[in-house]
Formats: sequence, structure tokens, C-alpha cells
Amino acid sequence: MKIAVLGSGFIARFYAESLHAQRRKDEVVMVYSRNIANAKRFANDYGLPHYSTSMQKAIEHSEVEVVLIALPNHLHEEAVRLCALAKKHVICTKPLGRTAKEAKRMLDLVEEAGIFGGYLEDLCYTPKFLKSMESVKRGDVGRVLWTKSREAHPGPHSDWFWDKNKSGGGAIIDLGCHCVEISRNFIGKDIKPIEVMCWADTQVHPIEAEDHAIGLVKYANGAIGQFEVSWTFRGGMDLRDEVMGTEGTIWLNSFLRTGFEMFTTGKGGEAYVAEKAESTTGWLFPVGDEAHELGYPHMFTDMFSAIEEGREPQETFYDGYVVNAILDAALKSAITKLWEPIILEDWRGNPEDAIEKQWNSYNEEYYLIKEEVLPNGDIKLILKGKKDGKIIQKVTKKN
Ligand SMILES: NC(=O)c1ccc[n+]([C@@H]2O[C@H](COP(=O)([O-])OP(=O)(O)OC[C@H]3O[C@@H](n4cnc5c(N)ncnc54)[C@H](O)[C@@H]3O)[C@@H](O)[C@H]2O)c1
Repeated sequence: MKIAVLGSGFIARFYAESLHAQRRKDEVVMVYSRNIANAKRFANDYGLPHYSTSMQKAIEHSEVEVVLIALPNHLHEEAVRLCALAKKHVICTKPLGRTAKEAKRMLDLVEEAGIFGGYLEDLCYTPKFLKSMESVKRGDVGRVLWTKSREAHPGPHSDWFWDKNKSGGGAIIDLGCHCVEISRNFIGKDIKPIEVMCWADTQVHPIEAEDHAIGLVKYANGAIGQFEVSWTFRGGMDLRDEVMGTEGTIWLNSFLRTGFEMFTTGKGGEAYVAEKAESTTGWLFPVGDEAHELGYPHMFTDMFSAIEEGREPQETFYDGYVVNAILDAALKSAITKLWEPIILEDWRGNPEDAIEKQWNSYNEEYYLIKEEVLPNGDIKLILKGKKDGKIIQKVTKKN
């Protein structure tokens, strides 16, 4: 595919590096930046034939087949509108919108124009995440009961993130979007998210939005997706996920401690360690191939293959809209201190019907509550009578 990148900042560079670092079929051919010097520098750094200070001209350029939005949150909708007008496929960074209403307008624009709309949720494409999803889908962890996804770092790198009007909020919209979509994947995208309870506060930074939050998202099948997000965490970027199921557990650590540890006195000069790393001396936790660990290559492969094959990508504009709806409810709950319903005017998954609890049967007479081998080798069973509801224990002595 031939790609136009809109924006020349932090994530635009990460994307361009992911696309141009290795030999690939897809190439960036155009960059839009409102600042001519930045546009030229970006084009020069990545060997692009074209650059423009007009978003519209960049999108409309005859060589461009797909547009990659890497602009601040308040510019996503306008960029999508121009792509829809020009009938160019579009892939957009996270969060899709600042609110569900904005995201829904973007979804409608793409669907009405009949163009491709991919949601660039890279953390749902990390190698660790993709392998975990295979396990979850195979049933290795059984029924998913609870997931926890955490993204925490010392705060973002540009002014607009800290301005609520431009960004749409604080840590919840910026980082919660990743966590919520990770949980949705593990729990099942067809399962309707119902309501949210969220605590949020502005603990450190002099801003209007929250810089720290914890939330619980309840799903129609009783599963809970917990998110923990912070712009106040010290020590780098902490990306961790957990899945708890009836038959198993998964723990993922995607960034800070990936098995690469290093000590330096700093003699070699200022080292680049990893995104949001706070120190360059002492014990450090570098990341081998950041783009890969963060899922960018797998994400772009899925997006461009999906366009070629005429199928939906793993992460769509619709997913971005559902994420925004969940985050809207989280922001509301942080104010009302109540469980707030998730308003999804367009729900495309399974109907909300409560799913019946399935207890583990031991035999015709009993349910099995617990089985454990004791330190002396005896086996203890905790059982519940199916008819009388009595809880008993049976011990089988080790011979
Ligand atoms: N993991 C991820 O997927 C990830 C990581 C970081 C950022 N992002 C997202 O990428 C987007 C951009 O974030 P970033 O970190 O690259 O920010 P950034 O500030 O580093 O870059 C933003 C770019 O947009 C340009 N810009 C700012 N205001 C503009 C305006 N009014 N008109 C035209 N251009 C303007 C800036 O000059 C810059 O080139 C955001 O939506 C953010 O949430 C995603």
C-alpha cells in the first residue's frame, strides 16, 4: 500500500519507523505537517517523495491509497471527514474520538463513504497479546472472569494532551482506551459491556483532567474488566495485563521488565533506553525492539492485508466507538461515584441476556467446589449437595 501520514510528531515517527525499518511491501509516500520545516525533515528522514502543509492535498494526492491519522485527538474527526470525501481508506490512531458521539460520527462517515476504517490499537497486536488470545480462544483459561490491564507512566510528551478540550480528558481517554480494548478482546467482543464504576483524581499535575484513575467495567456475562491508568507513575512505562479464567491464568508484562536488564555508570553518554524511560544511568530496563514489543508491525500487516483481502481488520472503527462509549461512562462515574450505564446506541454483538451460571458437577449428587492435595498427601474434596445444598468435605487418605 502507498500511505500518507498525517502528523509528524511522536507516534507518526514510530509508525514510519515500523513501516520502513524492515523490508516491507507498504511504504509511506506522503507526510502532512502544518509546519513546512517539520514536513521536510520527516520526508527527508524516511525518504518520502512527497510532503505537504495541506491536509486535504496530502489526502487527495493521486499516489496515496490509504491515510494514516497520527494527529492530536481533536483533529481525528476532520481528517476522517476529508478521507471520506476523497474516498481514501483510513487508519486512525487511538483514541478514535474524544467522546462516543464523535467516534460514532467518524464510524458513520467511513461506512457511508464505503471506505476502510481501521483502528490502530497497537497493544492488541503485541506478540504476547496475540499468543495469549490464541490461548483464550482455545479455552486454555476457561471462562474469562476478570481481566486487569494497566498502563501507567509519568505523563505525555506534548502540550495538547494536557488540554482537556483538545485531548478529550486525561489518563482515562489517553491510556484507558488501550486497557479497555485489551479487556474487551479477552472477555469477548460480542459480550456487551453494561456499566462502569470508576475512581479518578488529579493528584499531581495542575490540570483540569484526571491524572490517575482506576475503573471496573461490567460485562453482560458477569465478567469484569479492570483498568488502571496513570500519568503520575514514576519509573518508566508500565504495561501489564492479567487474565483470570475458570481454568487458568495469564500474566503479561509488555514493557518495563521484559528480560533485558543493564547497568551503566553513564560513561557512554545519554542512552536512549525505551519510551518514557526516566533515567539513563544505573540499572536500566531497555526494550529490544520497541515497535515490535508494542505491536506495530503485526498491526500494520493486519490492516493492509485486510484492505487487500476486502475483510475487516482485527480492530475496527466500530471497536474504537465501543471503547469511547465505555470511557464516557467511566468519566461520568468518576463524578457521580455511581455505576454508570454504558450507552451504546449501535450495539452489534450478542443480545444482553444474562448468561446462566454453570456450576462444576462432581457426580449426580454433588457439585465440586474444591479439590486439594494436602501437605500429608491426603486429597480433600469440598462438595455441595445438588438437592439439599449442604456443603461437606471428603478426605481420601494417602495409603
Ligand atoms: N500507542 C499509541 O497508539 C499512541 C502513542 C502515542 C500517541 N498516540 C496518538 O497519536 C496521536 C498523536 O500523538 P503524538 O504523541 O504523536 O503527539 P505529538 O504532539 O508528538 O504529535 C502531534 C503532531 O500533530 C501536529 N499538530 C498539533 N496540532 C496541530 C494542528 N492544530 N494542526 C495540524 N497539526 C497539528 C504536531 O505538530 C505534531 O506533528 C494522538 O491521537 C495520540 O493519542 C498513540
